[in-house]
Amino acid sequence: MSTAADIEQTDQAGSTEKVDLKKRRFLVATTSVIGAAGAAAMAVPFLTSFSPSERARAAGAPVEADLTKVQPGQLLRVEWRGKPVWIVRRTEEMLKLLPENDSRLRDPNSEVESQQPPYAKNKHRSIKPEYLILVGICTHLGCSPTYRPELAPADLGENWNGGWYCPCHGSRFDLAGRVFQNVPAPTNLVVPPHYYLSESKVLIGEEKKEA
Ligand code: FES
Repeated sequence: MSTAADIEQTDQAGSTEKVDLKKRRFLVATTSVIGAAGAAAMAVPFLTSFSPSERARAAGAPVEADLTKVQPGQLLRVEWRGKPVWIVRRTEEMLKLLPENDSRLRDPNSEVESQQPPYAKNKHRSIKPEYLILVGICTHLGCSPTYRPELAPADLGENWNGGWYCPCHGSRFDLAGRVFQNVPAPTNLVVPPHYYLSESKVLIGEEKKEA
């Protein structure tokens, strides 16, 4: 069983690897991009020396992400507070299919307040419909679910409109990070605090300070 300090990291091939979150605290915010076609997740390198800004980031400072790196349908992964954070650039078609899932979801309207900031309590669970930002940790026991953006794959069924599948105990989430009914995960995936610095940059881990 996973401890609070461990998560299961899952790649696109479905294999899992135990990750010590205490070690993760010392990682820099390495990014990787996972394509809709399902390329394997890149290994996250460990660094042996740290600049002061890297130390601050590992301890919980916000992380800036460059949205120009993520193509429609792709998932960009960044590290924040030792956790994976996903940025998905949803296509028009992905957004159009979201309401079809509603009747099969546990919390389609994001009523559980702890799972997202108020500005992400909407039908897309995001500030901009195109970009979904989630903490990539299953709300059951902390594994990292696998990105499955394809439509109706044989193993997930004809009603599958894209989302995430957790290989540990089978929880499923749609492309707004909303959990399906009849799976062990109790709540939707967490939307972390974030705001846009510009059209192409988002800061993860901090709320916008109102002037
Ligand atoms: S940890 Fe994801 S289903 Fe159990």
